[in-house]
Amino acid sequence: MSRPVMISPSVLPADFSKLGEEVAALESAGVDLIQWDVMDGQFVPNLTFGPDVIKSARQHCSVPFEAHLMVYTPDVMAQQYIDAGCSRLIVHAEACTHLHRTCGNINELGASAAVALNPATPASAVEHVLDLIDMVLVMTVNPGFGGQAYIPTMEPKITEVQRMLEAAGRADDVHIEVDGGIGPSTIAGAAAAGANVLIAGSALYRDPEGLEHAVSDLRARAEAARA
Ligand code: DX5
Repeated sequence: MSRPVMISPSVLPADFSKLGEEVAALESAGVDLIQWDVMDGQFVPNLTFGPDVIKSARQHCSVPFEAHLMVYTPDVMAQQYIDAGCSRLIVHAEACTHLHRTCGNINELGASAAVALNPATPASAVEHVLDLIDMVLVMTVNPGFGGQAYIPTMEPKITEVQRMLEAAGRADDVHIEVDGGIGPSTIAGAAAAGANVLIAGSALYRDPEGLEHAVSDLRARAEAARA
């Protein structure tokens, strides 16, 4: 498995009153990128933040930002998330009537496109856009909230995506990300199934030994599982 392991926080558990300090602390703790969970209150039953909040945090760290757009109309504000400092936009297959066009538009705007799959959505939903994306996100919870239980029955789908990438000759170019319930007891299963980018929210912030320990511990477990 040639793609490197990357550990990324979900900032949902962070203290929103001091986001600049929080993202700087995450960078010091050794995260590889930061994922922003954008929720519109429609596609998912929760509401979080828009591009201006992300932009306010951009100057406080240099790690790459990605926006996980849990919204029904990702095309409408794509440019604003890119202007806010996100180099990758993740759209949900279930939200995009014209997924191929949406991914192409994001590329034309100069960002990387990625597609997220809800637990009930089959891997085949990304089969015809593999040439337009640099990552597939296999949700390991139903999106909308942090702190939910990991769904282990997603592991065969992770492996199916890995096989699909290999068959398309894209296994070195397209990352597989997982998000939801990732922690010390679940990360090895997801990594062994084929995931190399691992999102963690509550598991990072609840580690009694702090963020830096949490990041290095999760990274070591994922690397061992992919070895
Ligand atoms: C859920 C979000 C996840 C979530 C992860 O819709 O996409 O990023 O915040 O949080 P944990 O790791 O606590 O499940």
